[in-house]
Amino acid sequence: MSNSVDAGKRRFLTAAASVVGGAGAIAVAVPFVASVAPSAKAEAAGAPVLVDISQLEVGQLLTVEWRGKPVWIYRRSTDVLEALPTLDDDLRDPSSEVASQQPAYCQNDLRSIRDEVMVLVGICTHLGCSPTYRPELAPADLGAEWKGGFFCPCHGSKFDLAGRVYQGVPAPINLEVPPYHFQGDNTVIVGEDAKGAA
Ligand code: FES
Repeated sequence: MSNSVDAGKRRFLTAAASVVGGAGAIAVAVPFVASVAPSAKAEAAGAPVLVDISQLEVGQLLTVEWRGKPVWIYRRSTDVLEALPTLDDDLRDPSSEVASQQPAYCQNDLRSIRDEVMVLVGICTHLGCSPTYRPELAPADLGAEWKGGFFCPCHGSKFDLAGRVYQGVPAPINLEVPPYHFQGDNTVIVGEDAKGAA
């Protein structure tokens, strides 16, 4: 009863939930691992989701669900961190000036709290498809300048590995960064900031 309040408040997911990584982009079809099932009430309210990223390797993308939406957590390499600033001239909003698309604490060059960890809502800002993770460098279909990112197959929108939208595509704004914070080195809490606000 009373102990169900905290127990039902959050789901704890491991990096095994759904990971793709590397050029092979292998999807691991393992259902979400829930140590404690959230109550129906907490689920409806969009309870924060605790995610263990201790097993998330560089270049891997982990997908979890928050409020019925896919949320991507991705560990960037130093190569990616070096490449991202070079893309600014090709992007529609490289400085994340559209305030609705990220919390204030992520309105920075990498749109993240920690440089190496990207957290994004994986829904295209055009008409809501889920873009595909495309980590390859210069694939034939995306061009010689492609340095890895996300490609929406519905109408061809492109985003970089900070969720910033390219110019000349249908999506008008950057991908959304959800509220989140870290608990220790290896736990991301998706759905609330460090003060507990959603
Ligand atoms: S929904 Fe993504 S490009 Fe249209």
